[in-house]
Amino acid sequence: MSAIPLLLGDMHHSGDHEGAWRLPGSPIERLSDPSYYVEVARTLAGGGFDGIFFADFVGFDPLVKSVVRWPFEPTTLAAAVTAAVPDIGAVVTGSTVFATPEQLAATYRTLGAVSGGRAGWNIVTTGAPATARSFGDVAVPEHDERYRLAEGVVREVLDRWGADRPLLVQAGASEAGRQFAARFAEVVFIAAPTLEAARATRFDLRRRAADFGRDPDELRVLPGILTIIGPTASAADELRRRLNALVTEHAARHMLGMYGVELPGSGLDTPLREVVLDGNHQGIRSRAGVLDTIARGIGDAATWRDLIDRIAGSRGHLAVAGTGEHIATVMNRWLEAEACDGFVVKFAHSPAGMHDFVETVAPRLTGRGIGRGNGWPVRQRSAAQSFPAT
Ligand SMILES: Cc1cc2nc3c(=O)[nH]c(=O)nc-3n(C[C@H](O)[C@H](O)[C@H](O)COP(=O)(O)O)c2cc1C
Repeated sequence: MSAIPLLLGDMHHSGDHEGAWRLPGSPIERLSDPSYYVEVARTLAGGGFDGIFFADFVGFDPLVKSVVRWPFEPTTLAAAVTAAVPDIGAVVTGSTVFATPEQLAATYRTLGAVSGGRAGWNIVTTGAPATARSFGDVAVPEHDERYRLAEGVVREVLDRWGADRPLLVQAGASEAGRQFAARFAEVVFIAAPTLEAARATRFDLRRRAADFGRDPDELRVLPGILTIIGPTASAADELRRRLNALVTEHAARHMLGMYGVELPGSGLDTPLREVVLDGNHQGIRSRAGVLDTIARGIGDAATWRDLIDRIAGSRGHLAVAGTGEHIATVMNRWLEAEACDGFVVKFAHSPAGMHDFVETVAPRLTGRGIGRGNGWPVRQRSAAQSFPAT
């Protein structure tokens, strides 16, 4: 493993866990206060993070009332945050379906300038019905066609950028998604609940990149990791139980719905047979398979609540509950096993869980050279060299 691992923090107001905003002491009152996100960025920069990831799911969804969303447009927030905290970069989601190449090129070029050259575009080929409704119910191309069209969008954007262009990031997991990521991504986000799954995906993506004439070392694979930190293993488990108890049925239904999975009408205590993807679902399609693998590992008497208890906050990503030392050991083991090139760190609850990470995990990762942007990829070649037209 050559490069210094890339460490990104998942920007979230009160934590990635669906129950976190209901924890006593959660910063829910500051949801609409931009200075809160600047404080988060300072904490992450101080903890050696290279950048922050700003997710984005455009559109109003009726179930949203049980799920807290920040009221900000993420590239504007990222610009404000990186202008205030020069030591940190920002990767922000942008849609190839609901934005034009001109808009995307200008937006990320600007973020690149404001962030001192540490900006990244998480390329999503949005298919969510809620988003289409927010754009006048426009017809959205089907899943694989969206990836084919996205290639043209990315090439047009690359044509408009100079040499110091933002990072290209992607999270395709389906066959079409992996091909797209292998052709264009410099960073690939993956959802892998086990080391073996991550390692297999990483080597598959590197092989595909080489098949496209790319240097596989120009592609970094970053799994998400949900961290639930406690002074002892049992304290961390107790925190997880408390968070799980705060997940409403609405929030569970909304989360599963994002992945094309329907929670039975009879609710969370319904016996769990299998996790089935709705064939008509046009949003994120590959996650249902990951959730089904987790469900099959629970046991015969499992209920949907048992599944939610396992995936709340992680949503199919690696989830680790324990002391800071234990979490650092797991992260170092994944890096040593070449299962990844860094991580997207999710904090079960914020800001307390983030402070715990910075104080008890990050110091045990510095041995790998992590700190102050060391992991942010430095480019050697031009776009034409990096992304050969094949
Ligand atoms: C870490 C991570 C972050 C993601 N962030 C977003 C996001 O902000 N907005 C979005 O619409 N999709 C997001 N996705 C979903 C991906 O863009 C993609 O739709 C998903 O991985 C499924 O890929 P597939 O369509 O190839 O199956 C994310 C996925 C991962 C793994």
